[in-house]
Amino acid sequence: MLRLIYTSVQVPGFDRPAFEHLCEQAATINSKLGIEGLLLCNGVEFMQCLEGPKEAVVQVYRKIVQDRRHSDIRLLVSEPTNDLMFKKWSMMGLVTRPQDSLSAESIAYTLLDHRLYRPWRSLGLGAADLIYEYAKVKAELEKAGEVGLLSKVFEVYEP
Ligand SMILES: Cc1cc2nc3c(=O)[nH]c(=O)nc-3n(C[C@H](O)[C@H](O)[C@H](O)COP(=O)(O)O)c2cc1C
Repeated sequence: MLRLIYTSVQVPGFDRPAFEHLCEQAATINSKLGIEGLLLCNGVEFMQCLEGPKEAVVQVYRKIVQDRRHSDIRLLVSEPTNDLMFKKWSMMGLVTRPQDSLSAESIAYTLLDHRLYRPWRSLGLGAADLIYEYAKVKAELEKAGEVGLLSKVFEVYEP
């Protein structure tokens, strides 16, 4: 099995319905291929963890890097694994902050350093640590039978 983690930057105008559609599309294909994972969206960037059979993950990743819904794709982690961190999540989508904040602050966006608006990209390889934290939280929530709590903090796009 293979695990990939990458960050990318959304195209301008990528909105909530577009994210919902993307999660559905990804989950449909992934469940057929045995791929699981997590897709985070902070309103500006994506960070995704893909896990599953090596050939399938590589095949899907090849499509993802050509997808025009995002750019500046940076692969942070590519590692063999026997232990899938996001079991039974054929692609769980979580939005981590209101998407409108960027357009609401267009003046600030112009004046401030762009890197501030792309936190995951700025973190470089360290951004992948966030994915490992999510995996721990998932395990803890599942143990407590409280996975539903996710929706208290995030917008959840569950396959
Ligand atoms: C951020 C992002 C994440 C994506 N994640 C997946 C995924 O997990 N699985 C998947 O099949 N497609 C994913 N896609 C969509 C693929 O790029 C592609 O559109 C899809 O696999 C359908 O490809 P096809 O029409 O050539 O079959 C993602 C796209 C983006 C922009």
